[in-house]
Order: sequence, then structure tokens, then C-alpha cells
Amino acid sequence: MIFTIAIDGPAAAGKGTIARAVASHFGFAHLDTGLLYRAVGRHLLDGEDPVQAARALDPAELDEGALRTPEVAQAASEVAVLPEVRAALVDFQRGFARREGGAVLDGRDIGTVICPLAEAKLFVTASAEVRAQRRFDELIGKGLDVDYDKVLEDVRARDARDMSRAEAPLVAAEDATVVDTSEMAIAGAVAAAIAAVEARR
Ligand code: DC
Repeated sequence: MIFTIAIDGPAAAGKGTIARAVASHFGFAHLDTGLLYRAVGRHLLDGEDPVQAARALDPAELDEGALRTPEVAQAASEVAVLPEVRAALVDFQRGFARREGGAVLDGRDIGTVICPLAEAKLFVTASAEVRAQRRFDELIGKGLDVDYDKVLEDVRARDARDMSRAEAPLVAAEDATVVDTSEMAIAGAVAAAIAAVEARR
């Protein structure tokens, strides 16, 4: 069985949590495509050429731990504006999407560019303030010394860059179900996402 669930939305809207829960509910494989851009961003911070890095990217590098820092997130958002970087990552994502057994991909352009024919599409969003608060709590929980206003500024800067870039900007696909998690607890958001996928099965 081949079935692709595309989950897009801005940073810290709950996409990752929802994508993992949906994948586990349906028994599908999951790919957090942000990790691909973060891995390329990591290479940029190391002084390497991002296009070469994207072409040579090894899925074994997608180790979450080292890539989940604010510094790498900003670098990821910068390399994500480069058309050659995006192009170099397309085949891997499409191959993953059409694997046997079903797949969930979460990112910014899955329903619009990578998998326009995905069987189910969700656009997960929340207000910038709510997303900044979640990111702040997460970073504090990891023991990092961060300031809420700075996190909110980062969220807004990343939104602006992700939404205004010429290549594959962050936008909901016309046929995506929008899930606004601003006032939802995780369980409610996951239930809404599963119901939206069930409706397309
Ligand atoms: O979801 P994330 O925070 O890990 O994503 C990091 C950056 O990568 C984000 O600012 C935009 C970019 N990205 C993208 O352009 N397209 C995707 N499909 C996923 C992420």
C-alpha cells in the first residue's frame, strides 16, 4: 500500500508531534524534512558550500540531537531559500513518500511542491505568540538560557523568510485541511489530524 500524508506549517506549530503521532497511529514511516535543511545548515556553519552539502547529504547525518539548536534552525532557514539546495533534496523526499507501507512527511512545501498528489494533506498552524511560548518552554526544558522576546523575534524572522522566499514558500495547499493548534492541547490536535486523514482514506 502506498499512501502519503503531507503535513506542512510554520515552526513550532506542533507539526512534528502531530506527524509522529499520525505515523504511529497508521503504522507509517515518518520523515521530518526540516532535518534535511538543518543538516545542510550545519554544513554551512562549518564553512562548507551548502549546495555541495545538499547533493552529498547522507540520511545517516539526520541525527536530531545536534540539529535542534536555534543557531542551526536559522542556518537551515537561510539555506532553504537556495533553489539548488531544495532541488538536491527532492528525490530523497519523493522516494520516501512513495515507499511501500505508507509515509508521513512534515515540512513547509510537502503538499505544494514535493507531493502535490499526496493522498492526505494537513496544514498545522498556531499564532506566532503561542509558537514562541512552546519553543521557549522546550529550550528552557533543555537547560538553555533563552529570552522569550528573542524567541518570538526568531519565530517571526523565520516565518517571514519561509513565507516570502520565491522558491517553494510556506503556504497551505488548496486541498489541505487546516489544523490551528493555538488553543488545542496535543491530544485534541492529534485527534483532529487523524480524523482529517481518515476522511481521505
Ligand atoms: O521544521 P524545522 O524548524 O526543522 O525547519 C528548519 C528550516 O528548514 C525552516 O526554517 C525552513 C526549512 N524547511 C523548508 O524550507 N522546507 C521544508 N520542507 C522543511 C524545512
